Amino acid sequence: MVSLILSASLSLTFLYTCQADLIGDVCSKAANPSLCNNILRSDPRSKGANLRGLGQIIIEKAKATDNNAINVANSVKNAGNKDIIDTCIETFGDSISNLNESSRLLNGGDIDALKARASAALTDVSTCDDEFGDDEPPKLAEASRTAQDTISPLLVVANSL
Ligand SMILES: *[C@@H]1O[C@H](CO)[C@@H](O)[C@H](O)[C@H]1NC(C)=O
Repeated sequence: MVSLILSASLSLTFLYTCQADLIGDVCSKAANPSLCNNILRSDPRSKGANLRGLGQIIIEKAKATDNNAINVANSVKNAGNKDIIDTCIETFGDSISNLNESSRLLNGGDIDALKARASAALTDVSTCDDEFGDDEPPKLAEASRTAQDTISPLLVVANSL
C-alpha cells in the first residue's frame, strides 16, 4: 500500500516535471523566453498540454497581439505616415491569416507547411518595422515587437514536431 502511494506520487511528480520542462524547453528557444513563459504559464489550458496544445494557445495570443498592433497603428496614423500605416495594417492582417492557417495545420496538417506559415506570420509583422526604419512611432514599434515575440515560440513548436 505504502509503495503504491509512493509510486503514484512519484508518477505525479514525474508528470508535473515533464510538463514544466515542455514549456521551459519551448520558451528557452523563443526570442523572448520570459514573455513566452508568462503567456503559457498563465493559461490554465497549458497544464497537461502537449506541443500542439501549446501551439494553439500561442496562436490565439499571437492573433490578439496582431490585432492590438492594428489598433495601435490606427491610433498613430496621420497625414504624413498614412501610406506606411496602411501597409502595416495590411501586413498585420496577413500575419493573422497565416496564424489562422497555422492553427489548421497544427491539427494534423503538413509540418513543413506549418513551418512556412508560422515563419510568414513573423515576417509579415516585421514588414512594418522595415517600412518605417528609424521613424517608427515608439508605441507601434513596441506593439510590433510584442507581436513578434509572441509568434516566435510557434516556430519553436513547429520545429519540434
Ligand atoms: C481568422 O480566423 C478567425 C476565426 O475563424 C476569423 O474570424 C478571421 O476573420 C480570420 N482572419 C483572417 C485574416 O483570415
